[in-house]
Amino acid sequence: MKRKILITGGAGFIGSHLANYFHKKKYQIYIIDNLSTGFKSNIIKDAIFIKKNCEDVSIIKRLKGIDFYCIYHLAGQSSGEYSSYHPFEDFSSNVVGTINMINICLKTKNKKIIFASSMSVYGNLLKAASENDNCIPKSFYGLSKLSAENYIKFFEKKGLNYGILRLFNVYGPGQNFNNKLQGMVSIYLEQALKNKQIIIKGSKDRFRDFIYIDDVIDIIARLSVNKNKIKDIFNVGTGKKIKVSELITIIKNKLILENKNIKYLKTNTPDDTHGIYSNNNKVKKFIKKIKYITLDEGISRTLKIEKLRCLSNKNFS
Ligand SMILES: NC(=O)c1ccc[n+]([C@@H]2O[C@H](COP(=O)([O-])OP(=O)(O)OC[C@H]3O[C@@H](n4cnc5c(N)ncnc54)[C@H](O)[C@@H]3O)[C@@H](O)[C@H]2O)c1
Repeated sequence: MKRKILITGGAGFIGSHLANYFHKKKYQIYIIDNLSTGFKSNIIKDAIFIKKNCEDVSIIKRLKGIDFYCIYHLAGQSSGEYSSYHPFEDFSSNVVGTINMINICLKTKNKKIIFASSMSVYGNLLKAASENDNCIPKSFYGLSKLSAENYIKFFEKKGLNYGILRLFNVYGPGQNFNNKLQGMVSIYLEQALKNKQIIIKGSKDRFRDFIYIDDVIDIIARLSVNKNKIKDIFNVGTGKKIKVSELITIIKNKLILENKNIKYLKTNTPDDTHGIYSNNNKVKKFIKKIKYITLDEGISRTLKIEKLRCLSNKNFS
């Protein structure tokens, strides 16, 4: 019998890559997604698709009796900027949605949930963030992710077996290039491909940790099928501090843009973090031999696919 897994957010960027991975491994995949930022065309065929909000309690009845090997909870409001205008919606999506998924998970034999949290829980650390650093979120988004983490940890006493993944800046082909509120790489690439210029809100000295989608899928998959109980928090980043100006130089060189096509604005994105990158020692200890794709290589791979999509205008306005 095929192993059953539930992927929430399976119509989105990371969720659809994860679904593809497990589809190839012959898992039976269930997907919950409200298609707010994801696309129906991203949902792999053969998946059982439930178009609902994760916070909708009727899902519990709908999935009653299905023994998921693991629940990958990736759905949620995913923009810091959006959360500053819509804090209630952000809370409902990220906190209430997570509590609902915990309830479903507790009814399964393994009680295993993998949760996509975010580096935003740390706030403005300005250094390599370790999992036991103090979390002082700067945005409602960071706050709701941190609350969701705490709900998950709270249910450990009920036997919940969890992996909380604090994802850093994930990028790669399939990211929603039309979403102007999330994804530094996709936002700049979209402008460069469409308008041959890049407008950057905020300082060029801000820094991030950019991790390619294939590396993230490799880490999520290897962590979750590990026989050991997890019950822990892991940073998912490359551990490399990259300045915005370095990212822009890579894109500029690959798309042959001139300096006059790069504009830095003084206005910042609301609640934006100046700089953060990951200390990734913990995840490297848990799953050995992670090879990280360099930013240069990752941008080349992304462009190879997204340039074609841009020319054919598919999911790309
Ligand atoms: N991409 C990144 O760099 C990054 C970084 C840190 C954390 N994350 C987290 O990883 C997860 C996946 O991110 P992504 O980049 O694939 O984003 P995405 O927007 O492409 O995917 C999110 C998916 O969830 C769906 N969704 C949103 N709210 C929902 C809800 N309440 N109920 C049901 N479906 C809902 C959307 O339609 C979309 O398909 C998110 O939780 C995000 O916060 C992403």
